[in-house]
Amino acid sequence: MTATLPQVASAAAGPAPHLREDLLTPRFYTTEIAKAASTDLAGQRAEFEAMLAEMEADYNRDHFDRKVPLDRLRALSAQEKEAYESYLVRSCVSEFSGFLLFKELSRRLFKASRPELGRLFQLMARDEARHAGFLNRALVAEGIEIDLPSLSGKRPITWFPLSWVLYSVFLSEKIGYWRYILIDRHLKAHPQNSVAPLFDFFEPWCQDENRHGDIFNMLIRCWPDLRQGLRGRLLSRFFLWSVFLTHSLTVCERDSFYTLLGIDPARFDEEVMRQTNRTARRAFPYVFSFESSHYVELRDKLVDTFRQIQALSAQPAGATRLLQSLGLKLRFGALLLRQFCQPMLATGVQFEVNA
Ligand SMILES: [Fe+2]
Ligand SMILES: [Fe+2]
Repeated sequence: MTATLPQVASAAAGPAPHLREDLLTPRFYTTEIAKAASTDLAGQRAEFEAMLAEMEADYNRDHFDRKVPLDRLRALSAQEKEAYESYLVRSCVSEFSGFLLFKELSRRLFKASRPELGRLFQLMARDEARHAGFLNRALVAEGIEIDLPSLSGKRPITWFPLSWVLYSVFLSEKIGYWRYILIDRHLKAHPQNSVAPLFDFFEPWCQDENRHGDIFNMLIRCWPDLRQGLRGRLLSRFFLWSVFLTHSLTVCERDSFYTLLGIDPARFDEEVMRQTNRTARRAFPYVFSFESSHYVELRDKLVDTFRQIQALSAQPAGATRLLQSLGLKLRFGALLLRQFCQPMLATGVQFEVNA
């Protein structure tokens, strides 16, 4: 499958390559809808009803005010402006990707005569549409227009089994929550670094992501087999590791954005991973043990090697570059394997009774 470059253009200054096509670019997903429609809510009925009521209450109905001015950017250098815009573009695409997945699930669940589940996904799609729309408005204020509907038509859609979607979306929502809340807390303590009015909206925004994560935790509970035995162990390990790795490399690539906010990128990444790993104890049968392992130390080595690979790719091609690149890639692969195999802790959730 060939990946096509998305339609991201700056109205003011021609094409703006703020969204490169690589493994770290947010993707669009679909899943086993018929299986999702067979979700048995019996053991989770009370929690399901409570969450549906909370989503219907729509606490953030008036939060994403369409009239609020988003164009009050402080005087930024061209490099800082690009760091901010690149953050907006990727965040906007990733919120829109959540919207598409939830909308499709909602539509098909209604069709499969599961109106209560369809409604829950419809309400989550509502939130993600607001988030993407809000980020899109901030981009328009910067003179950048992304054609989101055509973007989704041009990019490949990745198919995931339902179990993968449940594990990975739970983590994406919770890591999203921690990212937004940690940026919010930092900027409240250091208001001089708040370069854009967009950041004033992060606190209630992150509560949406937190609720979505809790909904996915409830959905995981509806499939008790997903947390049992080797399957539960592998799903926990693979998704925690891959989501954390993507986060570390994305933060490394975007370090100028965090520096702009006065945040140390490596410490931010570590705190986001630690908090998300702690939150995952309530949902996954296993989580990483950061305290008694080399996980973070390996993260530092991986990020360092990743930087070297990127720097090398800017050098002129030749036999030396080829050899150096091979050496670095082998080192990167070995580090990935070591990090993947770091010790984990059992959380005990697999022994909870679903009733
Ligand atoms: Fe969102
Ligand atoms: Fe969300």
